[in-house]
Amino acid sequence: MRKHSFFIPSGPPFNYVQTMKRSSTIYLDHASGTNLLPGVKDRISDWLESGMANPSSIHQEGRRSAADLDEARTGIAEVLGCKPSEILFTSGATEANNLVILGSAEALRDKGRHVITCATEHPSVLESHKALEKKGFQVTYLAVDKNGDVDPEEFRDSITDDTIMASFMWVNNESGLMHPIENLAQIARERGIRFHCDAVQAFGHIPIQMQNSGIDSLALSGHKLGAPAGIGVLYLRKGRTISRTSFGGSQEQNVRAGTPNHIGAISIAKAIKYHAAHLDVNTKKYVELLTHLQGQLKALPGIQINRDGHQYTPNILSCSFRQVDGEALFIRLDMSNIAVSNGAACSSGSQAPSHVLTALGFDENLAQASLRISMGIDTTKHEIDDFCRELEQIVTSIYREPK
Ligand SMILES: Cc1ncc(COP(=O)(O)O)c(C=O)c1O
Repeated sequence: MRKHSFFIPSGPPFNYVQTMKRSSTIYLDHASGTNLLPGVKDRISDWLESGMANPSSIHQEGRRSAADLDEARTGIAEVLGCKPSEILFTSGATEANNLVILGSAEALRDKGRHVITCATEHPSVLESHKALEKKGFQVTYLAVDKNGDVDPEEFRDSITDDTIMASFMWVNNESGLMHPIENLAQIARERGIRFHCDAVQAFGHIPIQMQNSGIDSLALSGHKLGAPAGIGVLYLRKGRTISRTSFGGSQEQNVRAGTPNHIGAISIAKAIKYHAAHLDVNTKKYVELLTHLQGQLKALPGIQINRDGHQYTPNILSCSFRQVDGEALFIRLDMSNIAVSNGAACSSGSQAPSHVLTALGFDENLAQASLRISMGIDTTKHEIDDFCRELEQIVTSIYREPK
């Protein structure tokens, strides 16, 4: 698991008892990557025994692999309420977002050159839009309110005759905030523009059905769901052609060239089925854990819980500490063998403040002293208690009263 690589600062001496490593990690960074599901582990073990033929090969072994892929595709399609041919396997959500944003814009270039997204999207979406700008497209990055929400009316007003596509994430990976996706997708449908949704942090927390939805494409990622990293799913609605941006073989409906990740596809299909079947029971568990966590965090000095209202998934909690040095906080958490992140994993190795918290109006110090606590299906109340106890010791030792 990724660790922060900070230097030990000068300043008040460390309390070495407090920062001594325990034998086990308190792992509350499941939104970055979570444990393999037991059913996925078993399937991987079977696969290791049974070999790994290329599904494009025409011999029996190859055909067996191709049948596994078909079964995985069909299983995911049943859960999402779509056709198997609308499910494409990719290396992850980054690739899915890249392929569909660049490919759709290119395919629709003759209709218009304007696309819309928002400031708090994942870098795989934001950077795809920056690449579009270099290709001559005009991008509107909608501003968000202090909670990170997009105003559907502002979205409606930003659509022009030149607009061809919009892309919004369902749940923000740093705050857990849910965007009103069905509402936004409906507006896009009414105005005849394509709608892409990064649903990486939503699946397993929100029921997702494609049949009557205005969503044209959707991205999912394996390692957020209990499958290994290196596999993702792109749902692409029939009839929404995209230009090729990946060249080689004709795999995955000519959209994503290259030998498919056979065991990855089987694993993500298993994980998707598991989450769909356990949505209610897992949500109930997360809500209980969250209430337990919030109840204890409230007492910490300088804390601000970054949650207003109920439009959040219950597995992610963002909080920030005033009068606390963010660098010292993360060093001490890491030395105490506590895994949480300061924003998203893909950017938390860097010292730059999170673009999401900055878009919400946080100053640099507050953004640096912010934690994203994210729970997984194995998280227990006991683990939350241990975490809160250690966090209290750490924060109390580095909190400075305002002058
Ligand atoms: C919201 C969101 N979108 C996209 C991604 C990228 O997914 P992957 O790591 O599968 O490329 C992530 C991963 O953190 C994410 O949280």
